[in-house]
Amino acid sequence: MKAIRIHAFGGPEALVYEDVPEPQLKANEVLVRNHAVGVNPIDWKTSGGGGAAAFIGELPFIPGWEFCGTIIACGADVSDFQSGDHVYGFVRFPKAASCYAERVAVPAEQIALLPSGCNLTEAAGLALAGLTAWQALFDHGRLQAKQRVLILAAAGGVGHLAVQLAKWKGATVIGSASAANHPFVSSLGCDQVIDYKEQKVGEFLQDIDLIIDGVGGQTGIEALSCLKSSGIMITLPSVTKDEVIAAGAAQGLKVLPLRVEPNAAQLCSMAKLNAEQQLQLKIAATYPLEKAADAFNDIASGHTQGKVILTL
Ligand SMILES: NC(=O)c1ccc[n+]([C@@H]2O[C@H](COP(=O)([O-])OP(=O)(O)OC[C@H]3O[C@@H](n4cnc5c(N)ncnc54)[C@H](OP(=O)(O)O)[C@@H]3O)[C@@H](O)[C@H]2O)c1
Repeated sequence: MKAIRIHAFGGPEALVYEDVPEPQLKANEVLVRNHAVGVNPIDWKTSGGGGAAAFIGELPFIPGWEFCGTIIACGADVSDFQSGDHVYGFVRFPKAASCYAERVAVPAEQIALLPSGCNLTEAAGLALAGLTAWQALFDHGRLQAKQRVLILAAAGGVGHLAVQLAKWKGATVIGSASAANHPFVSSLGCDQVIDYKEQKVGEFLQDIDLIIDGVGGQTGIEALSCLKSSGIMITLPSVTKDEVIAAGAAQGLKVLPLRVEPNAAQLCSMAKLNAEQQLQLKIAATYPLEKAADAFNDIASGHTQGKVILTL
């Protein structure tokens, strides 16, 4: 089958579209014919030797942790799924999951059935960013109705889903984005949008219960000044998490890092919301699998609106 492989860590030029061996199906896995796969910042960070590279094992490896497709075979121990089912998932992280391929074998306990009404290309981008938003808002952030949540990078992959999930929960949502993205972020339900290029959120916002920091570094640190003393910040970029946590600790504020985890029950909840059109995925761009390098260039810009998807 065809797949993207990385033989040596590097930039987009390290992505090689080539013939690779078929995946071997284990008893607890299903074999999926991919319809589309999502592209995330962790993909290019890892391909460059950072991100999750320490967990990948020997090269070459096939990048990608999220997929959407149709089951074509089930392992002997799988009883919840059958061939022909449309499924999506975020699997095996931070170990290699090998999703940038025509077919992928995935653990059945980490995937979810897609109800009719879900668009397969959109669902390919929903799992990783959606689970990150869900776990940041609800598991770690304990968001409640009527609380005030600030989402930094509200137009991005995680941010645009976090805005919708926080509104669904009944929170008041404030997002940061550049001016060009304000109509988009407002259309998702944001109650207030801040142009981070013109205003520092910490200078005029206050009493925020929860901050989802999708930017990190100095931006995350400056935003701490609008957090309630009892509030929580979840900081997502792992490379700057220590400095943001330390800045919070120096002010007596709770800053938590997060590593998104596979979770089939949460995938089911999000798929249902997607089918009901309460949680929609914005596609910034789609590319055929063999053009993965173009997708990496988009993501590395740091300014995509929603998600970039590879189609097969
Ligand atoms: N820890 C975890 O488990 C985990 C999971 C998922 C993601 N992450 C990390 O979280 C970060 C966000 O992920 P993502 O997938 O949402 O990234 P993304 O889709 O690449 O984010 C792009 C968005 O960031 C916005 N942006 C850039 N600089 C900004 C700033 N200073 N203030 C406000 N918005 C800004 C851009 O909006 P404009 O074009 O308007 O500037 C753009 O819409 C990444 O660093 C990613 O690696 C961590």
